[in-house]
Amino acid sequence: MHSRKLAATLVAGLAFAAIAAVAVAQDVTVDPAIAALSPADMVAKREELMKSNGGTLRSAGNLSGAEAVAAADTLIYNFSNLSVLFGESTKDIPSDALPAVWDNAEGFNAIMLKALEASTAMKTAAEAGDADAYAAANKALGATCGECHQGFRS
Ligand code: HEC
Repeated sequence: MHSRKLAATLVAGLAFAAIAAVAVAQDVTVDPAIAALSPADMVAKREELMKSNGGTLRSAGNLSGAEAVAAADTLIYNFSNLSVLFGESTKDIPSDALPAVWDNAEGFNAIMLKALEASTAMKTAAEAGDADAYAAANKALGATCGECHQGFRS
């Protein structure tokens, strides 16, 4: 695992057209094993990480302390790697991802980044023992799931 700026991640991992618009200076840790997967394995992996998002989000609301930090870490890992798993090379492999993922990569990546930021806010709040901030971040994260699925998932 190593850290890079998101802009660099998008250039290397996605080669999307709308890179400049999402070139936000936020540190994103991309798992090199994820970036090395074949396109078909990337599709399987992103569906696995999305399922993990579902299970983690469902339980995260009731957690606190170290368990809440661990749940946030899982979400941070997932959302740090998911953009790479929707790379151009996966475009023609059948899945529930709509063509809008690539046609409107800017919009798609903006919501992905919002989800990563909400996950990071969950971790910060969990570490600080701030239950209100944790609940707010959890809610903000939940909103990004529906926002993205509405326009980008069939
Ligand atoms: C930026 C867009 C985006 C965000 C944010 C997002 N998703 Fe998804 N999600 C997708 C897309 C696109 C698919 C379809 C992927 C595929 O079929 O390869 C998907 C698929 C899924 C699936 C089905 C996986 C399967 O078994 O095929 C689940 C469950 C899921 N998402 C849960 C979540 C949850 C929970 C969150 C929020 C915590 C979330 N997603 C956030 C875009 C997003």
